[in-house]
Amino acid sequence: MIAVELAHAADFDGWRAAARSLAGAAVAGESVVWRVKGDAADLFGDEPKGPMPAQSAAGALTVSRHFLDLAERVVCHRDPTRFALLYRLLLRLQEQHRLLDHATDDDVFRADAMAKAVRRERHKMTAYVRFREIVTDDGPAFITWFEPEHHVERLSAPFFVDRFAAMRWSILTPEVCAHWDLQALTFTPGTTRDFAPDDDRLEEHWRTYYANIFNPARLKIGAMKREMPMRYWKNLPESSLIPGLIQKASAQSDGMIASVPMAAPKRSPKILAQQEAGKPAARHEGGLDGLRHAAEGCKRCPLWANATQTVFGEGRADAQLLFVGEQPGDKEDLAGRPFIGPAGQLFDRALAAAGIDREAAYVTNAVKHFKNEPRGKRRLHKSPNVSEINACRWWIEQESALLKPRLTIAMGATAVRSLTGESHSVLKTRGQVLASPFVGDVFVTVHPSFLLRLRDEAEKAREYDAFVADLETVRRLAYG
Ligand code: URA
Repeated sequence: MIAVELAHAADFDGWRAAARSLAGAAVAGESVVWRVKGDAADLFGDEPKGPMPAQSAAGALTVSRHFLDLAERVVCHRDPTRFALLYRLLLRLQEQHRLLDHATDDDVFRADAMAKAVRRERHKMTAYVRFREIVTDDGPAFITWFEPEHHVERLSAPFFVDRFAAMRWSILTPEVCAHWDLQALTFTPGTTRDFAPDDDRLEEHWRTYYANIFNPARLKIGAMKREMPMRYWKNLPESSLIPGLIQKASAQSDGMIASVPMAAPKRSPKILAQQEAGKPAARHEGGLDGLRHAAEGCKRCPLWANATQTVFGEGRADAQLLFVGEQPGDKEDLAGRPFIGPAGQLFDRALAAAGIDREAAYVTNAVKHFKNEPRGKRRLHKSPNVSEINACRWWIEQESALLKPRLTIAMGATAVRSLTGESHSVLKTRGQVLASPFVGDVFVTVHPSFLLRLRDEAEKAREYDAFVADLETVRRLAYG
């Protein structure tokens, strides 16, 4: 038995170094006991422990970036078996290189679930921490108390360094405290809540801010409790406002509805000119042109408000293939045309490789407005939710009814959801033809953006080939 002692509960570097040596020396998972410094003695405490194998034995190990990203999150989970699980995965990956693609495999499933829980907890920490000001000999400092469910303190700390680089701050938690002194990030052992100040003038600022951003029309108490579990409420100054705001919400939202401006938002002259240039010369009510024109003013869901324009489908009216993506991206939103950005370029390449002429097909999206979140000068892509997908389905149904394609191709989960009305795993249904109550036969494949997100070059190349193979199947199904 070999005992590995990690420096702290989220010691990814320690786990990684030990795992490399152990795996390089072919040590079986059952022969390793993983402990965290300061934890109670392990169950095998009495068994004799062997030495760690030498580092040099780790030469031939292969690990993908995907696995390392996953492991970095999984080590932050509170489950005591996380280190052993990751080590088992590491060993299995040496034989089964695509193991992480098998989402239903027990180990992969557990690791994915842990990584997801950690991601959520990190999000909560970055969203719900509220600093309070204290005066110190060195000037003002900001302190906060947080009780994370998983060991996300070290994972989240760099976010606060970026966000509050010009403040001296400390985040106190029961297990580890993070401190930024304007120059370096340091960690000290955990503490108790008594060390965090309870009240100060920043609280008033937060209350005013929260009351101003509170949107009564979005009030969903269930979702609020899920997103911000009540155990966090006590640490938030604004939580004292919530009952009062909830009470006033219905009257306030009626007022908001009554005051919604009826005129379309002003667009920049550049966008207006682009829209004008892109419009069909002869507009008429019928056909695809009439439909495109009608979609320009679509307000079936709230997404129009943040987008530059409707990005309608594009292609030939007699197309045999109808390709459906998720929603326009930043570039598509500005240009008013689908799939012209990075995902579109990859899509074009794959189509050409599969012998499909994009000019002869029709390409559109499940959702016709760009859903985004402004972040500084950038607009971050946000996935559409089910009600937005459902609201926009009407347009796809019309496009499909006019085109009458031989085959509709759903690229990615949003398109599958839109076209079938159900949620199917793309991994499980890929390559299948599903019956749709809205548009006839639907062939399922991945979204080109999925390929863009892969970091491992070999994996990227394999997935690209698989995507081209799917498109070749599409060509055969449609044209024989
Ligand atoms: N992704 C999509 O789903 N559609 C586009 O038009 C561009 C990127």
